Amino acid sequence: MSEIAKLKVGKKEIDLPIKKGSVGPSVIDVSKLYSETDHFTFDPGFTSTGSCESSITFIDGDKGECYYRGYPMDVLAEKSNFLEVAYLLWYGELPSKTEWNEFSDAIKNHTMVHEQLNTFFNGFRRGAHPMAIMVAVVAALSAFYPDSINISDPAQRRISARRMVAKIPTLAAMAFKYSLGQPFVYPDNSLNYSENFMKMCFAVPAEPYKINKTFAKALDKIFILHADHEQNASTSTVRLAASSGANPFASISTGFTSLWGPLHGGANEAALNMLKEIGDVKNIPEYIKKAKDKNDPFKLMGFGHRVYKNYDPRAKVMQKTCHDVLSEIGNNDNKLLQVAKELEKIALNDEYFIEKKLYPNIDFYSGITLNAMGFPTTMFTVLFGLARTVGWLAHWKEMMVDKSARIGRPRQLYTGAEPREFKDLSKR
Ligand code: SDX
Repeated sequence: MSEIAKLKVGKKEIDLPIKKGSVGPSVIDVSKLYSETDHFTFDPGFTSTGSCESSITFIDGDKGECYYRGYPMDVLAEKSNFLEVAYLLWYGELPSKTEWNEFSDAIKNHTMVHEQLNTFFNGFRRGAHPMAIMVAVVAALSAFYPDSINISDPAQRRISARRMVAKIPTLAAMAFKYSLGQPFVYPDNSLNYSENFMKMCFAVPAEPYKINKTFAKALDKIFILHADHEQNASTSTVRLAASSGANPFASISTGFTSLWGPLHGGANEAALNMLKEIGDVKNIPEYIKKAKDKNDPFKLMGFGHRVYKNYDPRAKVMQKTCHDVLSEIGNNDNKLLQVAKELEKIALNDEYFIEKKLYPNIDFYSGITLNAMGFPTTMFTVLFGLARTVGWLAHWKEMMVDKSARIGRPRQLYTGAEPREFKDLSKR
């Protein structure tokens, strides 16, 4: 017998079923609330609202832990690789050797994009933000692959997901090359996923390209950390877009749109720009003061989180990865890292941040790392979206086979004008 929650609305008392998950908070199922009480729930920002049932990722915000299909994310970052984590997120288990060979070969077979797509970029100015290109070109894939947009066909769902995981790095590298005015570099299937991406970004036809194994390993780890994170804003956007039956390419492009915001995936770009603006540890107190000032819209970018009320476990791995990359280039006294570490130290001992449980999040150190690897700030959110594509697709796949899934259509608390008569202009 499942537990129930009793709710009294006026003179009426109703029973609402409580559903328990495998770990984490239980939920009160309010789906019959409106029909039984003529009231909606009200939860702007969804701070207390579960939008779906999912078995992909679990975050323990109080402990600062995150699990992909039950495996601690930081363990996967150390012991696995990004494409294997993509398999785990999609299929729920780590692949056997046979499953891994089939999956990685399949992804390799789809890394190239239609040559016609090359001309697509010419419609943008060279200085266009690469996220503007990604939002457009990912949706445009639906025009190139009409054979994989029927979401009711499992085979088409499978090929469209594999095409996106394979092609989005190629498109991201093309967006980067286009901004530099350099020729596009074709995928090289003799390389692993992250090495291939590095080569497509940094190789030039004029000379042989040598893979920096430390950078490629660091990037693969960064992709794992960014792969999925429960029902965050961009994942919820993808779920809502896909709930109407929109094709997978168009649905995933909405993920890039939402991720672009500075409060979400755009925070890595904003955090690095903030560290550059602070410039020196002596300026930190002034910025801490601004962050605490209710009348100042300034926030410490890369700090705070809706779910983590403890240190974001990804930030810890990211800080170590940052040291690995800076050591590789012999830049251990990196000014931005010094500012970041001093800023973190001061903030974590400040009453305001302690009371509001604001800790560094994944975006705080990622920018310094990516900057040191040669990526411009405008590419940071593109890399976040490249990695999160596997998470968005995991949720999309889960939703496509969820029998209870329906089109998402929230209600509202209406506070506008009450019904009234139209008046002719002559009478106004
Ligand atoms: C990501 O959801 C996810 O999982 C996202 C993500 C993922 O992997 O998908 O983890 C990726 O988006 C990480 C977050 C990146 N964003 C930033 O670093 C931007 C800076 N952070 C904030 O904007 C904020 O912390 C959010 C957006 C991350 C969380 O916003 P919430 O949960 O709505 O919290 P809030 O804005 O209501 O803040 C609560 C209080 C407020 O003060 P009061 O009104 O209660 O007095 O804390 C303050 C805020 O003003 N606050 C900050 C702050 N973050 C929150 N004050 C200063 N600096 C900050 N960074």
